[in-house]
Amino acid sequence: MSHTPVLLQEILTGLNLRAEQTIVDCTFGGGGHAAAIAGQVHQVFAFDQDPHVPNYAADILAANPNIKLISSNFSQLAKYITAPVDGFVFDLGVSSFQLDRAERGFSWRQDCALDMRMDPRRPLTAEKIVNQYAEKELADLIYNYGEEKYSRRIARNILAARQKKPFTTSGQLKEIVWRSISGSYTAKTAALARVFQALRIAVNDELNILAGALAGAADLLKTGGRLAVISFHSLEDRIVKTVFKDLQKKGSFTILTKKPLRPSAVETQNNPRSRSAKLRLGEKGCMNKT
Ligand SMILES: C[S@@+](CC[C@H](N)C(=O)[O-])C[C@H]1O[C@@H](n2cnc3c(N)ncnc32)[C@H](O)[C@@H]1O
Repeated sequence: MSHTPVLLQEILTGLNLRAEQTIVDCTFGGGGHAAAIAGQVHQVFAFDQDPHVPNYAADILAANPNIKLISSNFSQLAKYITAPVDGFVFDLGVSSFQLDRAERGFSWRQDCALDMRMDPRRPLTAEKIVNQYAEKELADLIYNYGEEKYSRRIARNILAARQKKPFTTSGQLKEIVWRSISGSYTAKTAALARVFQALRIAVNDELNILAGALAGAADLLKTGGRLAVISFHSLEDRIVKTVFKDLQKKGSFTILTKKPLRPSAVETQNNPRSRSAKLRLGEKGCMNKT
């Protein structure tokens, strides 16, 4: 099983790679981007908060001795990267390895434990959220992180269901969401995806750490160094766009992608997971525009 890296060529070109460089991949996952970058530069430091990653990616790590994998959340970048580097890549979200392993609980397509932690050492699981959060807290979470308009109805139905039987599996949650939405199969599955996205974001605290990590990465760039960020939904992309604009306003950063780059029709056909990807690129330093 492998993780097909999204927008790979755009990342390789966008980072303006050269042989002597050091690049940081903040979201190593299956190592697709990191391995391709490692083939073109001197050193890659890679982060992933999932402690299973060294096993998933053992072959890639063995084949690319210039990748140093750091098993940590990218919120801790500054602790490990102590000298300026030539580029950072963020490819946000979950990897195919995580999605495809039922026991990790990320996918509504499989009936499994309600877990969803990228880092299983963290205490909060999706099961705790659906069983313990108050109705309003749950509705707000589904609305804010899932942009789901039936959030209140879904939260009310979750509360009613858990009084009879606590949630332990994704199948139970799927059934409640399914019953809460009237309409077509497509409408129901779209709502399911939004509810599962909301839980995943909350469990992993994905949005709260993103802005700080991007600004921290920009601080750690050499002049001329590049920051590349792939996001998969509008909540993430909004944060990336805002951070890039703020950095540019402060005068030490140039946005290279006025509009985010999107995968080609061929890429989305070969890798449907790339469908919603957006890549934004920026460069440390001010560029004189003529
Ligand atoms: C979409 S996958 C990256 C795939 C990778 N670019 C590839 O080509 O195989 C995202 C990975 O980032 C990791 N991740 C997400 N948020 C993280 C964070 N805050 N700190 C460290 N790793 C994170 C996840 O555990 C997952 O393995």
